[in-house]
Amino acid sequence: MNYFFRLSALSLCLLTGQLQAQNINISVETRSNALVLQADAKKNLNTLYLGKKLASAAEYEQITGQYKQSSEYTGVLSAAYTPSGSRNLLEPAISVSHADGNNSLDLRYVSHELKKLSDDVSLLSILLKDPVYDFQVTLFYKSYYKDDVIEQWSVIKHKEKGNVTLQKFASANLYLKAGGFYLTQYHGDWAKEMQPEESKITHGIKTLDTKLGTRANLFQPSVFMISLDKPATEDEGTVLYGALEYSGNFRTDLELDYLNNLKIISGINNYASAYTLKPNEAFTTPAFLYTLSSTGKGDASRNMHNWARNYKILDGKGQRLTLLNNWEATYFDFNESKLFDLLKDTKKLGVDLFLLDDGWFANKYPRNGDVAGLGDWEENKTKLPNGVASLVKEAKNNEVKFGIWIEPEMVNPKSNLYEKHPDWVIKQPKREEYYFRNQLVLDLSNPKVQDFVFGVVNDLFTKDPELAYIKWDCNAVIYNAYSATLGNQNHFYIEYMRGLYKVLERIRTKYPTVPMMLCSGGGGRVDYAALQYFTEFWPSDNTDPMERIFMQWEYSYFYPAITSSNHVTDWGKQPIKFRTDVAMMGKLGFDIVVSHLKENDLKYCQDAIKTYNVIKPLIWQGDQYRLANPKEGSVASMLYVNSGKTAAVMFNYLVNNRYDEGSKLPIKLKGLDASKKYAVKELNLYPGTSSAVDGTKVYSGDFLMKIGFNPVVNSGRTSVVLQIEELK
Ligand code: GLA
Repeated sequence: MNYFFRLSALSLCLLTGQLQAQNINISVETRSNALVLQADAKKNLNTLYLGKKLASAAEYEQITGQYKQSSEYTGVLSAAYTPSGSRNLLEPAISVSHADGNNSLDLRYVSHELKKLSDDVSLLSILLKDPVYDFQVTLFYKSYYKDDVIEQWSVIKHKEKGNVTLQKFASANLYLKAGGFYLTQYHGDWAKEMQPEESKITHGIKTLDTKLGTRANLFQPSVFMISLDKPATEDEGTVLYGALEYSGNFRTDLELDYLNNLKIISGINNYASAYTLKPNEAFTTPAFLYTLSSTGKGDASRNMHNWARNYKILDGKGQRLTLLNNWEATYFDFNESKLFDLLKDTKKLGVDLFLLDDGWFANKYPRNGDVAGLGDWEENKTKLPNGVASLVKEAKNNEVKFGIWIEPEMVNPKSNLYEKHPDWVIKQPKREEYYFRNQLVLDLSNPKVQDFVFGVVNDLFTKDPELAYIKWDCNAVIYNAYSATLGNQNHFYIEYMRGLYKVLERIRTKYPTVPMMLCSGGGGRVDYAALQYFTEFWPSDNTDPMERIFMQWEYSYFYPAITSSNHVTDWGKQPIKFRTDVAMMGKLGFDIVVSHLKENDLKYCQDAIKTYNVIKPLIWQGDQYRLANPKEGSVASMLYVNSGKTAAVMFNYLVNNRYDEGSKLPIKLKGLDASKKYAVKELNLYPGTSSAVDGTKVYSGDFLMKIGFNPVVNSGRTSVVLQIEELK
């Protein structure tokens, strides 16, 4: 990050408002981009520029003169954080009711401060104050130079004579100029997560939001893309990726204003959440995350991946465990001896861990289906007479690790927990209960419930310290939002999330590294706040590999492959090779009955796991290139290249079953070294088949990137995995 001022040498650390009647430019610079804010003579803080960095910082000043858009009536149209109730005429970032009942707010620049946190990371804070009320907002900009990523949030405070109500309290307020804007947004439902839609943004406001409370992404995640001027492609065009780092209700307003500029205002959803702020209390918003690329979507996603692995995801540079899960193999129908057999299968298959799913707990109302027992986290005595401990021990005998499923935020009305603590459950006291998957959500705004949820995890580890993995599920949304103990119901949704993060923080303080999968009745919850506590997420219950090719493609824009738990199951009609290959493009797992596999299918899986153990560092830490888009042709192709450009792996699939479809043309590789020589070898061959690829030929990186390589995908070769290795 780099600051510059039109005035000469001034301290760059702390400036207070001595610069009367001068424009003050404050710039956040990353490797390719600059965000330039300007406090004008009257100390309005506006966005002067957000885009590709200029060679000469002095020229930012000349940008405004080149725009001949119509009149700016308000002086705050491009505000860095738009207040409401004074001059503003459009969507505000913040809206308040002061202690005296007045609804107006004005925010003027007071000072700013820069801290360099490392060679790569800087933190800028800018203090804004209302000239009339003792009310202030500090804007934070944490910038990651190498990855062109910025996280923005705000801290709101006041010293008025009574409480202030925050009606809206955004994290960030961006202002973009371009000849048109194209939004890529996502929608979904169970088993249909991450469905993309692209549209040109028209005048007015487009709001992306959720009001579900928990598993907030079920219908709409907060991730989105904005292409400037024209829709960006993989390698061309200017595109901004945005996301709120928050697991609860979010709201992003995209407003194309009358000047044809785009305001992006993102934060916690203020729906049913007017927040009463006491004097001197600091309200800290979650971070809004964005990266801007002028070289298309590919670079934007690789920047996001690097940033996520280096700075955000728990253990982003670490190891992950391959596993066998029993959910689809047994559902609720298992006992100790069945599980002992599955532990043997885990070893036979060659994965690292056995994951015991739902159904292992509850006695008064046994968890033999999804209608009862949730909340009663003691082992079911009929199914597991010797407890989890004997399973952990047996796993050890089989030289595999053991992990377990929990859904600690939830309760079935038919449970001991519900009977004992009805006041811990989210429901309206005077209304009929309404269920999502026969269950209700526990009130995490209540500290006693926080202790309980922490206790679920803590007890498991206390009893079985060798437990190696947790799958944390969250199936229900919040209906009838109401807390029996919270004084101000308007704080409910926010306090729920605070409670959840407090619990996760406690878990991570005590158990910093144990891998945890973030699951949500499929893929209803992933975001970068949650991924600080989780090593991976479950993209969807839909594991049909044909569907997964599309879904994982969309997730891959925002989340690196190391976070994507992909399991081989019996969903879909594809052969085992196709299913396994697709699951390998992330964190590999299995959820099949190993004993039902035909001999060659089992052999295929065993060999593929061995291969995966060799190539997984490439998939988890490599640069990911989307080569052929399944939505645009008959073949999908994805490439992962290591940082030294010495090795890569390319996954190719037939996604169209019509006559004679296949890879007619070579597929151009990316990210290799043009001057290096490579050999291309086929991996994951099904037993008894031979490759259509001649592994003895030598290709230059130049050739592979300019002409490409044909993986020979056709109806007889629907899934082809290629290894590209440098020849020295
Ligand atoms: C959710 C998850 C599944 C499984 C079941 C268990 O639906 O997404 O993977 O764990 O719950 O009830």
